[in-house]
Amino acid sequence: VGQNLVTIKEVDSTNTYLKTLLSNSKPLPEGTAIMAESQFAGRGQQQNKWHSEPGKNLTFSILLTPSFLPVLQQFDLTRAISLGVIEALNPLLGDRLKIKWPNDIYYDDHKLGGILIETHLQGDRIKDAIIGIGLNINQEHFEEGAGNAISVKQILQKDYDLRALLLEICGHIEGYYLKLKAGKSLFVRNAYLNRLYWLNEARNFRSDGETFTGTIVGVKDEGVLVVEHNNLGTREFSLKQI
Ligand code: BTN
Repeated sequence: VGQNLVTIKEVDSTNTYLKTLLSNSKPLPEGTAIMAESQFAGRGQQQNKWHSEPGKNLTFSILLTPSFLPVLQQFDLTRAISLGVIEALNPLLGDRLKIKWPNDIYYDDHKLGGILIETHLQGDRIKDAIIGIGLNINQEHFEEGAGNAISVKQILQKDYDLRALLLEICGHIEGYYLKLKAGKSLFVRNAYLNRLYWLNEARNFRSDGETFTGTIVGVKDEGVLVVEHNNLGTREFSLKQI
C-alpha cells in the first residue's frame, strides 16, 4: 500500500478522483494512493463536507481490492483502516488516540481525522474499495464552525512531514489488511474494541431527536453499535443512524 503514490496539487476530492480514474482507465494496481495538497470539494461521511487548510494536512485516498471479503464483513475493512491510522500515529500521540465509532480518529474529546470508505460490489463480494483519509496535521487554527477539530500541531507544537506520515500510515494499514486477508478478523475485531472511544462509559446518545443515557457495550461483527440503555435493555445503532 502506498508504493504507487501520486501527488496532485489541487483536486475536488481524492475519492472522486480515484473513482473516476478507476472507471476511465485500465485497472490500477492495488494499493495505489492519491494525495492532494488541497481539495476544493472534500467529502465526509453522511454528505458532510470535509474542510482542510491547503498544504497543511493529509487528504488522500487508497485503492484496495478486497475481493476476499464478503460484503457482510465490510466492517472489518473499516476496522483495519482505522487501526492502521491509529497505530501509525501512536508513537506521536499514544493512548489518548481513540476510534470513535464507526471510524473517526479522536484525540481525547477532539476529532483529529476521519475516514470515508466507498465500495463497489460484485455479487456478494467487494470488488474495490476507495479509502479516503483526512487527518489534521499541521493546521494551527480551525474555524468556529469546525466543532471539536484538533491537529497534531496543536497537540505537539511541531510540524510533520506529510509524505512521510502518509507512507507510515500506508504501512500500518497494509499490516492490518494482510491480517484480514489471512483470516485473522478476530484479532482485528479485538484490537478495534481496545481502541474504541466511550467503550463501557456512560454517555448521552441522541437518536431520532431523543436523548438517552447509555453505555457502549460492543460492536457487532457487521458494525452495528450496541448501547446498553440503563435498565431498559440494549439499543442498536446501524451505520446509517448516528
Ligand atoms: C468524515 O469524518 O466524515 C470523513 C472525512 C474523510 C475525508 C477524506 S480527505 C481525503 C478523501 N477525499 C475526500 O473527499 N474525503 C476523504
